[in-house]
Amino acid sequence: MTISGDPAGEISVTAPAKINLSLNVTGRRADGYHLLDSLVVFAEVHDVIRASLANDLTLAIDGPFAHGLERDEGNLVLKAARRLIEKTGTENGAALRLTKNLPVASGIGGGSADAAATLLALDRLWELNMSPAELAETGLSLGADVPVCLFGKPARMRGIGEIIEPLPDMPSAHLLLVNPGVSVSTPAVFQGLKILSDSGEKLADIPPVPDLTALISVLKKRTNDLAALAISLAPVIGEVLKTISGQDGCLLARMSGSGATCFGLFEDARSAEQAAREISDQNESWWVCPTRIRSANR
Ligand code: C5P
Repeated sequence: MTISGDPAGEISVTAPAKINLSLNVTGRRADGYHLLDSLVVFAEVHDVIRASLANDLTLAIDGPFAHGLERDEGNLVLKAARRLIEKTGTENGAALRLTKNLPVASGIGGGSADAAATLLALDRLWELNMSPAELAETGLSLGADVPVCLFGKPARMRGIGEIIEPLPDMPSAHLLLVNPGVSVSTPAVFQGLKILSDSGEKLADIPPVPDLTALISVLKKRTNDLAALAISLAPVIGEVLKTISGQDGCLLARMSGSGATCFGLFEDARSAEQAAREISDQNESWWVCPTRIRSANR
């Protein structure tokens, strides 16, 4: 995430799309939450949260996917702000603005990324000086993906999302994101899993990933365990995967999170852009976004 301030005191934080390059489900806790082992990276494409001091707490939303969002207390941005107020007792308010560039409820962490960016923006705006651990704990109470979004760099995510291990930096590979415009309910996908307890499954440690070939070889040993269930709920996801993997230069196509967004990893910018044009031409209602993996030192 990039945090910046302007002379008028407005804080601006980017909320990059979170991509689960792999997502293995390794067990289930007694409370029903699932234990995961997921390789997560962030993309260059992002939402933006802007925050400035105000007497009350308000939220305005703009951007291409603004229409798909709740504007009331159900919105994760407002929930994140209220959670910080409860936790710290601050009497400050804020005028928040969300620019929604990422599709809603789509497996690339839009809501979680926005909640994480809100926590970072308000921590700075209200001078709360919360530690990364306090922010992560507050984030986890908002959603299992919020801690990794706060971290914002390539990570291996375990537990239900609270165990974050930095990964070696990833090649800034060319990604194509495709969402067919159906929203998939995350709880519905998880509920379909037949895992009853901790399976004890331990996946191999991640070796250094110096280039795209090494990355593909790591990913071929992993899967997205939610994909088959998501496809059974929304068969168009199967079509999206087939379409991406049929493009020239596509080295791997997979679903992110609980769907419906899928990604393709491409060998170069030209083939990713060519694939984007072709897929958009044939599927006008799909969201198609050529982007790159964001490097860890940004
Ligand atoms: O935490 P989040 O709001 O992203 O999760 C939505 C739902 O997905 C949870 O209520 C739970 O049913 C399911 N989930 C799960 N295991 C996880 C994360 C989410 O079962 N690790």
